[in-house]
Amino acid sequence: MRLLFLGDVVGRAGRSAVIDALPRLRADWKLDFVAVNGENSASGFGMTPKIADELFAAGADVLTLGDHAFDQKEMLSHVEGVPRILRPLNFAPGAPGRGHGIFPATRGRRVFVAVALGRVFMNRPFDDPFSALDAAMKTAPLGGPGGAVQAAIVEIHAEATSEKMAVGHWCDGRASLVVGSHTHVPTADAMILRKGTAYQSDAGMCGAYDSVIGMDKAEPLKRFVTGMGTERFQPALGEVTLCGTLVETDDATGLARSVTPIRLGGHLRQSAPPGPMPG
Ligand SMILES: [Fe+2]
Ligand SMILES: [Fe+2]
Repeated sequence: MRLLFLGDVVGRAGRSAVIDALPRLRADWKLDFVAVNGENSASGFGMTPKIADELFAAGADVLTLGDHAFDQKEMLSHVEGVPRILRPLNFAPGAPGRGHGIFPATRGRRVFVAVALGRVFMNRPFDDPFSALDAAMKTAPLGGPGGAVQAAIVEIHAEATSEKMAVGHWCDGRASLVVGSHTHVPTADAMILRKGTAYQSDAGMCGAYDSVIGMDKAEPLKRFVTGMGTERFQPALGEVTLCGTLVETDDATGLARSVTPIRLGGHLRQSAPPGPMPG
């Protein structure tokens, strides 16, 4: 199977670029399943039901959320009725929505998706992501005749690369892909781990990189330089780079055959699977 994960979609620029490109990417890259992190798609903070509908219509199979999951209050009730939107699985018990699920892919195949929050350098305490992922993965054994799913994507939404790599090794052999999100900057460490799980510490964002992590740079610079903030952060406009991770899996085992970091458009050095760049 060919699975694409797209990192945090930031603001109007990011979501327009994703909505515009995704139908073409699905066709050109023969994608079987697409997961997109939408936690910053509404003016940089959270996701609205309307934006979720637009991302689904463009070709996302599952939308994930991170620490900004409920910045838009409508999402608190909306996640209860839309199982294809996942919030982090290690939110406090009783939080609305779900953090993992099994979803249909092409040709009757099934994909497990989970999203977990890290705890290192995060400004709120969350439950232990390792035990939460362990319990969730046990509900969806990967590959083989007895497997419940043909592929599995684990997203680790976290600040520290150390914690993300630890999650990668914790899930090695039990997921097709472990991919990081939240920092909005892609890492250069896409690889296949020893037991067959594809891994990238951070996929990067789908947003304008002439910015400070997707936000117009004026206000963040003022806050860093003077120590004082005066205005709200606004998502940057301008040229967008779509960032993500593409993994090709073996249906029999659910493990990765190849992994390709995706950086498409905008200011970053481009990276895509071999073949013509999508038009
Ligand atoms: Fe984010
Ligand atoms: Fe985040």
